[in-house]
Amino acid sequence: MDSDSVRGDFPTVRKGSGIYLDSACQSLRPDQVIEAMDEYYESFPACGGRSVHSMASKVSVAVDEARESLASFFGTKDSGCYVFTSNCTQGLNTAAYGLGLRGGDVVVTTDCEHNSNHVPWLHLQEEKGVRRRMSRSRPDGSFDIESFKSCMDRSVKVVSVQHSSNVTGCVVPVRAVTEIAHDYGATVIVDGAQSAPHMPVDLNKIDADVYCVSVHKMLGPSGVGVMYGKEEVLKRMSPLCLGGGTVGLVTYGSVSLAPVPDRFEAGLQNYAGIIGTKAALDYLSHVGMDEVERWDSMLMERMMKGLEDIPNLRVVGPSDPDRRLGVFSFNIDGLNAHDIAMMADSMAGIMIRSGMHCAHPFYVSRGIDGSARASTYLYNDGKEIDVFADTVRHIAEVFGDRSLSRSSLSLRI
Ligand code: ALA
Repeated sequence: MDSDSVRGDFPTVRKGSGIYLDSACQSLRPDQVIEAMDEYYESFPACGGRSVHSMASKVSVAVDEARESLASFFGTKDSGCYVFTSNCTQGLNTAAYGLGLRGGDVVVTTDCEHNSNHVPWLHLQEEKGVRRRMSRSRPDGSFDIESFKSCMDRSVKVVSVQHSSNVTGCVVPVRAVTEIAHDYGATVIVDGAQSAPHMPVDLNKIDADVYCVSVHKMLGPSGVGVMYGKEEVLKRMSPLCLGGGTVGLVTYGSVSLAPVPDRFEAGLQNYAGIIGTKAALDYLSHVGMDEVERWDSMLMERMMKGLEDIPNLRVVGPSDPDRRLGVFSFNIDGLNAHDIAMMADSMAGIMIRSGMHCAHPFYVSRGIDGSARASTYLYNDGKEIDVFADTVRHIAEVFGDRSLSRSSLSLRI
């Protein structure tokens, strides 16, 4: 990958707006995405799928093209299996509430899920009596297939797992999970928010029934997500929201739903966002997802090497950089995670995230009140990682508590 050329495509990098290490929250956007959205607003800012005039037809074609880009990016044949949502959370909620689960049905998740793949199931447990089981992760937060297998039996109707953790970066072997789950007749939902931006994802191979992503984590516009679903799964799923665009014929007393995917896209859509999505996918495809993964992995290795001998720094998750997909979560003894983040910003213009990262149960169950988290992407370079490592070292040496040795207090999980 030509790092200088990639960096040159990102306006905030060009302007020197700081070292952005919060891509697991939301990525930066290249010119190509911003220009595609500007072109929509400047040249054909109409609605798609309704009016038949020239501007609207252009929008309808652009929406179809964006779906085709999704099919090509994720390796599926049918572009009609991609539903535009406002984020991954909306996709996961649509699937959770739309699959018609009843009291007694069992849902299996992992104990490392983001709140978006935890809270809807908790709610369904309270509202409908759905039963939950959780696959327990290993001490370092990685997925344990034996624990997962022990959760499975014929009462399991849905398996809903993350593909990669936004805290530890651990990757769940979703192909193996899907195979096991399908043997028990369960429907598989995958939260791809942290994986799709950072590694090649072939939905045909993974064979998940539903796969949800947030486009704003993969160079695309804010407020756009995608829910992929196999056609037969989408057909038996109820939409979360109904209205214009979701119907065939409606009378005063009856309604027939539109075919998939339209029945899930109620009301006017975020057309600029959909057009920006295609530009983001084109950009990532041009660089190549293998290259993106390799670059993230190189940055992670450099970051962890730069931090490895800081005695009062505690890694959250595996210490092996190869097992962390672009996220590095950590604490420094004696410091609150928000203080670490604010110091990094004020000292060196480094932007990282701090807190519980919308994965509260993970932290609460381990007795940690949060962590700082640096997350990389293709527009970061080695020099930025070195500045980050030097800054964290300085913070740990000057402001951290160095009286606790690693062996006496181990939060390395
Ligand atoms: N869940 C997103 C993150 O990890 C917002 O930052």
